[in-house]
Amino acid sequence: MFKLAVFVSGRGSNLKAIVSQIKSGNLTAEVAAVVSNKGNCGAIEFAKKENISAYVVSENKEGTKKTYKELLELFKQQNINLIVLAGFLKKIPNDFVKAFQDKIINIHPALLPSFSGKGMYGINVHRAVFNSSVKVSGATVHFVDEVYDNGKIIDQICINISDVNSPEEIAEKVLKAEHELLPRVISNFVHNKIKLKNNRVYLS
Ligand code: GRF
Repeated sequence: MFKLAVFVSGRGSNLKAIVSQIKSGNLTAEVAAVVSNKGNCGAIEFAKKENISAYVVSENKEGTKKTYKELLELFKQQNINLIVLAGFLKKIPNDFVKAFQDKIINIHPALLPSFSGKGMYGINVHRAVFNSSVKVSGATVHFVDEVYDNGKIIDQICINISDVNSPEEIAEKVLKAEHELLPRVISNFVHNKIKLKNNRVYLS
């Protein structure tokens, strides 16, 4: 079975979308671990309810929390195939990124490379999009490298926002697109369809 580790920091609607696609048989994968920097977020509650192994990560050794080094060992033992950042707000340390080169993906709630970088998360992104007066936004899934929001783009969904009246309206539309995009990209990994060539990502 294709094994996923999903990193989360908040309510976990993307995690729920992944689990829902697995349950309905559209995605042949298993969420083997959920990792958060927060012990008490909605996503962790959901993981526990679903009997998925849940871990809290911290930079340094702290009580029962796992360090990135410990997670790295654990994921290697468990043969984790893909690490999915689904609303994870911390930067992944470089050593960890190197150990899972081209095996970590992130979902961003805008069309990268615009509206990216430090501070660009959650409603901040949608506010910036709204204030910029652009007519389209969307969701992007990209590889994670050592630089924030910088890795190669794997797939995007574009949505028309010409009629919206608030950043919240954009957020709602984009979230729907995210729930479609992320399981779709994971499925393409499961079926080995993602290929890197000439500095671009292709679907084969
Ligand atoms: C999503 O908009 C995701 O793109 C961003 O954080 C949000 C997480 O939402 N990185 P959820 O926790 O999956 O509901």
